[in-house]
Amino acid sequence: MKLGSFDVPNRLFVAPMAGVTDRPFRMLCRRLGAGYAVSEMVTSRRELWSSLKTSRRADHAGEPGPIAVQIAGVDPAEMADAARYNIDRGAQIVDINMGCPAKKVCNVFAGSALMSNEALALAIVEAVVAACAPRGVPVTLKMRTGRSDGEKNAVALARRAAAAGVAMVTVHGRTREQGFKGLAEYDTIAAVKAALAIPVVANGDIDSPAKARDVLAYTQADALMIGRAAQGRPWIFREVAHFLATGTVPPSPSVAEVARWLTDHLHDHYALYGEASGVKSARKHIGWALRELPGGDVFRAEVNRIDDCASQVRAVGDWFARLAESHERLPRVERVPAANDDEIALTA
Ligand SMILES: Cc1cc2nc3c(=O)[nH]c(=O)nc-3n(C[C@H](O)[C@H](O)[C@H](O)COP(=O)(O)O)c2cc1C
Repeated sequence: MKLGSFDVPNRLFVAPMAGVTDRPFRMLCRRLGAGYAVSEMVTSRRELWSSLKTSRRADHAGEPGPIAVQIAGVDPAEMADAARYNIDRGAQIVDINMGCPAKKVCNVFAGSALMSNEALALAIVEAVVAACAPRGVPVTLKMRTGRSDGEKNAVALARRAAAAGVAMVTVHGRTREQGFKGLAEYDTIAAVKAALAIPVVANGDIDSPAKARDVLAYTQADALMIGRAAQGRPWIFREVAHFLATGTVPPSPSVAEVARWLTDHLHDHYALYGEASGVKSARKHIGWALRELPGGDVFRAEVNRIDDCASQVRAVGDWFARLAESHERLPRVERVPAANDDEIALTA
């Protein structure tokens, strides 16, 4: 698959998740089979760009390309500035967020709220495309199916966005009103795919190789985007890739492999966030990795009380070493993605 002049190595994408898909997590997913990753959203509000949070979000050191940065905001000129600012800092693809239902985004009419105002949504698309085109940077758009069940305008908006120069559209198969409740539906995604000549990416509730195959077949989408199911289980990308290529699900990774991936991830995480902040923000990744593993809940409570990075990573290594004594491979778990909508925040 091509995006502008960039080759995307495969059609399995990591979804942008604020507070989750920072550079260390994106690089881990890329290492474990994802072909493409989009950064957490970066606000278009200039006064927040110099904040620590935004500058960490704009950190792409060592990240394999193409580097895709998502921007969120409501003002076309500000969004164009944000695109230029991120291109100057390494963005090779700019993604516009019209998919996020978070209150902090929607109160200022950004994220998925923009879908209700097609004229403003289009003005943003046009301004961002005009800023990016001279630099050879493709613009992509991430959206939901619409505002509510009665107001699903994904096809109309996607058509207009494609006509305005957008190079790829991702559709999360829920309405804004749904938040993360209910199930994602794929009819609207299929309709968007049928209506557009540019690549369309299907997103929402893809949590297993079989589901990935079914969503691809049903929607005819060009690619799949996976979010929550990759939390604590980033090797889902290589599992899906293997299944799509061979029709068989590979064995679970060995406990030793999982321990290595997680401890490598933790070191990378600490390097980005520093000791004080890193030890705290790493807890959610450790918690996801332990979810549903035998004894995971008890250890999670213990590890949450540790407040230095060296002890945290050592405890995690020791715990997995003990698990490896009784399990060569990671026990398979059926996971229902958590609806952690509340964690989404568009702050500096
Ligand atoms: C914690 C969290 C943060 C998210 N942050 C963003 C974001 O910054 N930008 C965005 O477009 N979508 C965001 N999303 C939505 C996801 O990209 C994705 O569309 C959604 O989770 C559905 O996919 P899934 O079922 O595979 O998780 C977020 C979702 C979660 C759970």
